Amino acid sequence: MASILIHPDTESASRATAERLLAAIRANPHAVLGLATGGTMEPVYTALIDRAAETGTSFAGLHTFNLDEYIGLAAHHPQSYRTTMDRLLFDHVDIPRARTHLPRGDSEDSAVEARAYEAQIEASGGIDLQLLGIGTNGHVGFNEPSSSLASRTRIKRLTRSTIKANARFFRSGEQVPTHAITMGIGTIMQARNLLMLATGAGKAEAVAAALEGPVTASCPASILQFHPAATVILDQEAASKLKWRDFYEDIHPGGEEVYFADTH
Ligand code: F6R
Repeated sequence: MASILIHPDTESASRATAERLLAAIRANPHAVLGLATGGTMEPVYTALIDRAAETGTSFAGLHTFNLDEYIGLAAHHPQSYRTTMDRLLFDHVDIPRARTHLPRGDSEDSAVEARAYEAQIEASGGIDLQLLGIGTNGHVGFNEPSSSLASRTRIKRLTRSTIKANARFFRSGEQVPTHAITMGIGTIMQARNLLMLATGAGKAEAVAAALEGPVTASCPASILQFHPAATVILDQEAASKLKWRDFYEDIHPGGEEVYFADTH
């Protein structure tokens, strides 16, 4: 089972996520990191930039692969995930842009682009640590409910609820993308370590379904139960519907990693 770390508040959960990313980079300056976008990750990247500056950590030797990109948006579109990642992280650290990878949303053939992205991940040696958020419907990346649990990077149609949730990032009247290129669930599961962050009451149901419900394509994040090295970081609200919450808090008080010889 995953380590489930329940933090006292959103800030502490976000900072702990940033600390883990920083630790992974410091342990292996040539690591391949899988990154995510979304509102949940904004405070994580802010904290990561600060901590990298404080600790003099270089990102120059990393490779990064983002989970997904909207189809139809050119890289320079203000709401593309490429622009978002530049603004939130890449513009503030010393990683050469050529080492940061996202699928191209405006390629001539998105299916070809998706296959090429999958091949690039493989050619990099595979992802050491994949950062994940979770959708209110249990999606990871843009693998919406009913996605194959063995899927690889490909085109996915977004659900109405995801399109509505994403609309907050677009100007009113602006066309919100309906399709994305996303790493598949099989792609994500191949990462050597997974690190999921969920914050806020809006995620409580999805988190409970993912961690304590059946493993099912109806809740793609439930596949984490099969990953040998998954860590899930939550704030109080996101943890509020977990049946075994007391137990997780007994194992990791305050969300701290405490190792006991007899817990394995
Ligand atoms: C983003 C992504 C999505 C988000 C999820 C949560 O790259 O892959 O799965 O992590 O939609 O988004 P927020 O954090 O905005 O609630």
